[in-house]
Amino acid sequence: MIYSFYHITDVHYYSKRNFACDWRTFPQPNSQVCILKSEEAFKKALETVEADKDTSTVIITGDLTNHGESYSHEEVRNLLQKFTEGGGNPYVYTDNHDYPYFPIYGYGENGEKVPTEHLPEKEVKEMYRPYGRDKAFDTYEGDDTTYIAEILPGLYYIAMGYCAEDDEEYYNPYFTDELMNWVKGHIEKVKEKGGTVICSTHRPVIAPSPAYAIVGKGHCFPDGERRMKELADMGIRLFFSGHSHIQCMKEITSEKGNRIYSVQTSSIAAFPPKMRKITIDTDKATADIKTIDIELSGLGMSFTEYAKKGFLGIIEKIPYNMEHDVEAFANTDGGISVPKDLILKHPKTVMFLGRKLNGLTYAKVAKFSKKYHDLKENDLADKKDKKFVDLVLELVTNLYRGNASYSHDTVEYKITMGTFRKIEKLLSVLRIDSKKLLNGYSLEEFIEPLLYKNGPDDDNATVDIK
Ligand SMILES: [Fe+2]
Ligand SMILES: [Fe+2]
Repeated sequence: MIYSFYHITDVHYYSKRNFACDWRTFPQPNSQVCILKSEEAFKKALETVEADKDTSTVIITGDLTNHGESYSHEEVRNLLQKFTEGGGNPYVYTDNHDYPYFPIYGYGENGEKVPTEHLPEKEVKEMYRPYGRDKAFDTYEGDDTTYIAEILPGLYYIAMGYCAEDDEEYYNPYFTDELMNWVKGHIEKVKEKGGTVICSTHRPVIAPSPAYAIVGKGHCFPDGERRMKELADMGIRLFFSGHSHIQCMKEITSEKGNRIYSVQTSSIAAFPPKMRKITIDTDKATADIKTIDIELSGLGMSFTEYAKKGFLGIIEKIPYNMEHDVEAFANTDGGISVPKDLILKHPKTVMFLGRKLNGLTYAKVAKFSKKYHDLKENDLADKKDKKFVDLVLELVTNLYRGNASYSHDTVEYKITMGTFRKIEKLLSVLRIDSKKLLNGYSLEEFIEPLLYKNGPDDDNATVDIK
């Protein structure tokens, strides 16, 4: 059998009706989500499925709206309805951004943030039932998200809900033993019928990288690896999620030697704006996973560049602003955690640090860590004057984009790893344990995945699902 379907996630739809001002003249906000283009991105994603002759089936794994605005939900529901009437076969659930637990705002006549209407969680869940849960042949009593549906003849999809050990600081999602048993029971029944099962949940069960395990602490499942291995032993080979807005594929093998792939797809409306098409061939026991970039016209640049500008543009300006515009640096909204007053009180110190940071060339960094890598002066060649800060910014980009490609023999890999090895050594002299600061990871383990991706390609891969 051949099964094809799409994975779309983190739509973050923001209705244009939330603007009392002219949204066409509204500047692109510095934000992870492209609220001005999320409508276009969702329409483009649905059109991509509609244009595909192989399949009309799509799983959409939560965060349908920006912050749960009523207008946004209404329009997403209408688009799903139209998609369904045109023959589309969506399987949708909602998650944290769809409920009124974030600041919910529209924009007033002068572009100022103003309150806007939103819907309660219960109502939100009800309104999407026809596009997922109502098509299920069984639902789990323990939560109102979990269901199992036959999304194509012989292909079964388990949408998994989760609980949380929310301690105010960290959310800490988890699957209960009861839910795992319910899932296991269904997998066994499907296997008896000769069918195939795939699973999903909104949040990443395992962290896409050590860096995300720290910046996104509490967003992933603390015991996620154990749960993924249990699912692998039950016979699940593909597990889909979203939430982190990171493009990532991970392979996990259980102690019994069973493999499972965690397929984490970025948002269609944030950097990098992507969706996936999956084709399972049960005779060959392979799954072909293909990434599709969301492309929009009329931006003067690709949508990927546009999304990157809104999200990382503000971070990219930090080194320049530190040296040349302390006021702008102090106003880096959400990008830095140093208090604004402290920065403005010490402008000369900030400018000095900025100058030092921007003056760091590959040659200077290589010299600093020379005992910790095998590079000779000649190896740097035409790279010796390159700015190290640009490489650091690229590593931040790699956290989201995936497929970091500085292999072990590159200058970039050697000077970065060498530098972190030296810093680790300096910390140990000061009796500072980096593992305590980095969630159990050493500095090297933390930085390496941002330089070089080990394991399956984050965008496109054909994986063995025997
Ligand atoms: Fe999201
Ligand atoms: Fe989310």
